[in-house]
Amino acid sequence: MTRSQEPELARGRKDDHARLALEQQQEMKQSPFDDVRFIHHSFNETNYDKIDISTTWAGTKHNAPFYINGMTGGSTFTHQYNDKLSQVAAATGLPIATGSMSIALKDPDIIETFTIMRKNNPNGFVMTNLGAHHPLENAKRVVDLMEANAIQIHVNIPQEVVMPEGDRDYSMWLRNIEALVKGLDVPVVVKEVGFGMSQKTIKQLIDIGVENIDVSGRGGTNFVTIENDRRTQFDMSALANWGQTTPESLIAADSFKGQANILASGGITDYTHIVKAVAMGARAAGMSGRMLHFVNELGIEETIELVENWKEAIRLMMLLLGVETIEELQQVDWFATGDLKEFKTLYKK
Ligand SMILES: Cc1cc2nc3c(=O)[nH]c(=O)nc-3n(C[C@H](O)[C@H](O)[C@H](O)COP(=O)(O)O)c2cc1C
Repeated sequence: MTRSQEPELARGRKDDHARLALEQQQEMKQSPFDDVRFIHHSFNETNYDKIDISTTWAGTKHNAPFYINGMTGGSTFTHQYNDKLSQVAAATGLPIATGSMSIALKDPDIIETFTIMRKNNPNGFVMTNLGAHHPLENAKRVVDLMEANAIQIHVNIPQEVVMPEGDRDYSMWLRNIEALVKGLDVPVVVKEVGFGMSQKTIKQLIDIGVENIDVSGRGGTNFVTIENDRRTQFDMSALANWGQTTPESLIAADSFKGQANILASGGITDYTHIVKAVAMGARAAGMSGRMLHFVNELGIEETIELVENWKEAIRLMMLLLGVETIEELQQVDWFATGDLKEFKTLYKK
């Protein structure tokens, strides 16, 4: 492959990701959050008028405990999604992230497929996104291009392994993330891409100064399956179950709640999952595949209405659970069933 072919290949990859992720949404029926159940109590002291669903992470107070996670940009096909998703974010106040801007550093022609998100949402909380190997100057450049409020740094070894053109050297990622955290003057969110995080990973991130961690677990968009579908070499679908689910990752993160803002994404497909993720310790929950599906199937106006309905549904679930703030929601009684129950025994204090 010549260097001039690289951006073209990357554009094709972005299109494949969006197309295959949308196909996965059609098949998604079960959720790992099905194994998380609340305990119902017949009395509570809560008054609907006192319920506050706002939450704070990455140094900012946000009006609701969910956000649109990093996905698209980098091609004509994905530009339309950044346009639509950022209109939803602007109308609802949800934080939003771009997809990886690596491609924009190589091909200035496609910068606009990302900056449309800031143009549509001038006052919103916008995060940019890059892989963990990028030097500080690249991170500063994408933050400037987006006038970003924060940057997401993604870690995605299983995806790179199965991706035919994936990176094969991850030896510097952790040290590099440390340098990015030290050198940037916007908050850094380190995120997985649907494979979850272990207790060891979360501790390593906290030890190098990362204050915002999106565990992005298994159970939603599956990048082993997506990259395997793009492969012409031998089949690697046997790795489709790699990683920890989002609830498993939140159990692993539980003991670090006071040391970092834990964010949850991966398989969030309805408002009950957001409430469960917060009850398990998350500050907020991120949605990618299902949001893409919503703007694709419903369009902008209906997606905005759906987001507003979800905010109200979260408020009503907090009323049901007898809590008035996100901090109180993080303390409610829940229990695990199925495989999650077994996983939880690993982390018994
Ligand atoms: C079409 C698509 C493209 C994605 N591209 C990126 C990306 O560029 N950077 C990143 O950090 N995560 C990316 N992701 C991963 C998501 O941010 C998220 O971690 C993962 O999809 C799990 O969440 P979900 O089940 O809600 O989709 C992408 C997801 C989708 C669906």
